Amino acid sequence: MTLEKAPPGVDPLTPSVARMYDYFLGGKDHFAVDREAAEAINAISPDAKELARANREFLGRAVRHLIDQGVTQFLDVGAGLPTRDNVHEVALRHAPDSKVVYVDNDPMVLVHARAILADNPSTVVTDGDLREPGWITGHPEVRAHLDFSKPIAILLVAVLHFVTDDDEARRVVAEFRDAVVPGSHLVISHMSPGEAFGDDLAAGQKVYAKSSAGGITFRTHSEVLSLFDGFDLYEPGVVQISDWRPDDPVVQALTKSSSGAIGLAGVGRLDS
Ligand SMILES: C[S@@+](CC[C@H](N)C(=O)[O-])C[C@H]1O[C@@H](n2cnc3c(N)ncnc32)[C@H](O)[C@@H]1O
Repeated sequence: MTLEKAPPGVDPLTPSVARMYDYFLGGKDHFAVDREAAEAINAISPDAKELARANREFLGRAVRHLIDQGVTQFLDVGAGLPTRDNVHEVALRHAPDSKVVYVDNDPMVLVHARAILADNPSTVVTDGDLREPGWITGHPEVRAHLDFSKPIAILLVAVLHFVTDDDEARRVVAEFRDAVVPGSHLVISHMSPGEAFGDDLAAGQKVYAKSSAGGITFRTHSEVLSLFDGFDLYEPGVVQISDWRPDDPVVQALTKSSSGAIGLAGVGRLDS
């Protein structure tokens, strides 16, 4: 995509975490600044692309698991640019009555998602900021599409690390938790330091500090675990994304991130 083709409202000069992620996934919706920033991350953490792909695969497995639990309503916050196996595609394949709300604060995501999903009655695309859960859960479009008296799956996949302050990240999750009924679910994947050196983490943080997100916080296993406060975690708990209920344990083990930062993931159920 060239600068001339930047849709109205889209800033082609600041790296966007949505477009960087699209680049990592092999998509086409990115500008030179996004590719440069993504390559800078790649230079620090050479398995960034594998991690992005493994994260998408985790998302698909988590949605299938939720459908198996009888959940058919999805609130996907920080949904990202449409790609392969989007949440509604996986959900509708397994439960045709599924309903999905996609929320993002990136103008490019909104333009593309709205264009692609305009005629899809199972989905709604809403402009919203993760840091304002009340605004999202109270949004008329969201409430018209999802029934808040029934269980909802809240998907916060590869996005909470962009809420850099720990207290704010906990507040965000708690406010979503308080907006839904028992039987609802929470899905999180989150960047974590793993075995990465402090210098590499700092270098990565510097790249994200100049991005649309304004920064990234790598949280430890216990910090990610604590975000599930009030939820009962499904086995195997909070683990590396490729270790969360892999379809093929052998392949997953071979493709597991071995250097640099890692992604952690878990799925929890809200009990009364
Ligand atoms: C790395 S992508 C993840 C996309 C998708 N959830 C996935 O895991 O495949 C992060 C997405 O979160 C969005 N995002 C970042 N900060 C956000 C915020 N404060 N509110 C809403 N969306 C946000 C970005 O625009 C981007 O689309």
